[in-house]
Amino acid sequence: MSAVDLATILHPAIAVFYVFPLIGVVVYFAWQTRQRRLQDKENKGKISPTVGPQHLQVGKWLSASVVGIALLGMAQPIVKKLLIEPGNWDANAGRFVLIVLYFIVTIASLVLLYRARSLPWRAVFATLTGMGLIIIGFQKFQAGDGNLYDLVFRRDFEWQISHYYYGMVAAFLMIFSLAIVPDIYRDRSLTWRKVHIVLNCLALLFFIGQGVTGARDLLEIPLSWQKPAIEQLYINNCQTQPCEVRPVEQPPADAGQSQ
Ligand code: HEM
Ligand code: HEM
Repeated sequence: MSAVDLATILHPAIAVFYVFPLIGVVVYFAWQTRQRRLQDKENKGKISPTVGPQHLQVGKWLSASVVGIALLGMAQPIVKKLLIEPGNWDANAGRFVLIVLYFIVTIASLVLLYRARSLPWRAVFATLTGMGLIIIGFQKFQAGDGNLYDLVFRRDFEWQISHYYYGMVAAFLMIFSLAIVPDIYRDRSLTWRKVHIVLNCLALLFFIGQGVTGARDLLEIPLSWQKPAIEQLYINNCQTQPCEVRPVEQPPADAGQSQ
């Protein structure tokens, strides 16, 4: 397998062997935390009082991991298109430096979100982290034909089943969970706790969506030695019928300036 192919499976591999098992641990402790809180006094001793703090501890790892895996998923095509594919560097060197800065600011905002205590700072750093993810996802580069194309494949033509948009929602929900931790503990009316439960059950659905759409995208990306033949098949397909099937990383035939 070539270096480019290995780089392609880096993100899915880390998601599968690290992030998804972590989701399992977080959900296990979440369920235990809820069961313990809802148990009557007699049965309370059966579940350890540490399940809440343990859920929080692994949850904190999960938030960073999901933001990290989303950044890695976007770094891959950016590095591939600007550094590995020949001919793109000269026209895009300035863009590349700017994008590296966006990555640094996003990671720094996440680190500061972990440290922030007061509500305004938590809101500021959570917003900055989320904005960083979106801004990176919408970066473009100038190709050899002089047109601007997207660096990150967002599947805008089928946004309802897009790995990018699902990933963004999941990452935002993790960032939000992190930002409201002090409120969950402080709020006696349990409102923040309920908000947390509802939003993170939704996050679970998006994680499942990431598993499905990620596996699909992996099927659509050919191994490097198969790429020329597969691209030709897509070109033939678009010439004989409306181009409904489009490959990952391949600008649609009617994309114009948008891809
Ligand atoms: C898939 C992700 C997650 C799910 C499904 C989930 C679900 C839950 C559930 C069901 C509870 C128990 C609520 C109750 O008492 O009834 C809970 C508590 C809590 N969660 Fe999460 N959660 C997730 C991720 C996170 C993350 C990422 C964080 C923070 C970084 C977090 C922080 C907390 C905190 C602080 C509590 C209160 C724990 C305690 O009572 O000691 N959760 N969560
Ligand atoms: C929490 C889990 C995950 C998150 C937040 C996430 C996020 C992302 C993001 C933001 C991108 C860049 C946009 C795109 O190309 O669609 C991406 C790319 C990708 N993801 Fe994921 N992903 C996750 C899990 C997975 C899994 C489980 C797989 C496969 C089994 C996978 C396979 C891929 C592939 C093949 C790409 C394209 C990479 C490339 O262009 O080189 N992802 N992911």
